[in-house]
Amino acid sequence: MAIAIVLVLIVVASVLFHFLSPWTFTQLASNWGMMDLTMAITIALTGFAFIAVNLFIAYAVIRYRHREGAKAEFIPENKKLERWLIALTSVGIVVLLAPGLFVYSDFINAPKDALVVEALGQQWRWSFRFPGADGKLGRTDVRLIDGANPFGIDPDDPTGQDDLLVAGNEVHLPLDKPVKFNLRSMDVLHGFYVPQFRTKMDLVPGQVTTLWFTPTATGTYEIACAEYCGRGHHAMRGVVVVEEAAAFQGWLQARPVFAKGEDQGATDTGADPLVVQGQQLALNRGCLGCHTVDGAPMVGPTWKGLFGKQEELADGTTATVDEAYLRESIVEPNARIVKGFQPLMPAYATLSDAELEALIAYIKSLAQ
Ligand code: CUA
Repeated sequence: MAIAIVLVLIVVASVLFHFLSPWTFTQLASNWGMMDLTMAITIALTGFAFIAVNLFIAYAVIRYRHREGAKAEFIPENKKLERWLIALTSVGIVVLLAPGLFVYSDFINAPKDALVVEALGQQWRWSFRFPGADGKLGRTDVRLIDGANPFGIDPDDPTGQDDLLVAGNEVHLPLDKPVKFNLRSMDVLHGFYVPQFRTKMDLVPGQVTTLWFTPTATGTYEIACAEYCGRGHHAMRGVVVVEEAAAFQGWLQARPVFAKGEDQGATDTGADPLVVQGQQLALNRGCLGCHTVDGAPMVGPTWKGLFGKQEELADGTTATVDEAYLRESIVEPNARIVKGFQPLMPAYATLSDAELEALIAYIKSLAQ
């Protein structure tokens, strides 16, 4: 009897929780209302099965409870009941699977006129590439990736020359126009997920995966990496800004073009070319995925006001942030850890001396 009451209470509480819970879908900002519908169908069907099975168990517990002298009946087989159960579960499975298959086939076949964008994921940041006037993205090869060519674009491919590069974590998209994303990873599995667009797809090293959607509401949305990709996973966030076509074009045309080979997203910090080169490197090598330049600590300490500072270290000692300290922290990051931070940073041992010098010059320039 107690078990029957507990089961009924679980059913009632679950149904109440479903209808009263504040955990509902976030605002929909794309054409994928079908995703919500398939979710609703799944919840309705599994919810119905959950209620029916538990109430049936509660009923059976009471109806067939132990009675003195009663004898259980042995029914090894019931063809009629089995046929019913097979038919019902088959219908249930079809109802669960079919809508999803239809939506999925739509989801991976982008409309012909979709704007193509590439999203490149790496530990632990996003960058983006748009085709130029020719509407085509240039060929890429991971072997061509280096500090000056963070996307690995083939310099001999004419279609890549006018590609527009976005080195930061922020991408803009035009309102009401279908967008197809080509997703590439530079290192490990990442997941491209924007909850408001109901779109999610993994970035698989060595493959190009795709998805598409049409943004239907202007606003700023978060891209949250949805695949655990190492210890900085939680910090791998990007921003999508959906805006009117004119504003989008203005933003896009201000992006640097690959063929120019310089200024790939960096803003001018002054006349010192070494500092500009360092800022470039910081963007391209992903330093700014974990270090901010505005004073806010992220995965690593901020670079603002870092140079010349006395850092308290995890082992209780202190260190003055000078050139030697910075050099060591880049090449051998785990040698000395700043108090309050985790030993997460990969060693950048492949940077050349000139690159190290430029990076340090950039960090120095942020001292005031
Ligand atoms: Cu990238 Cu998690």
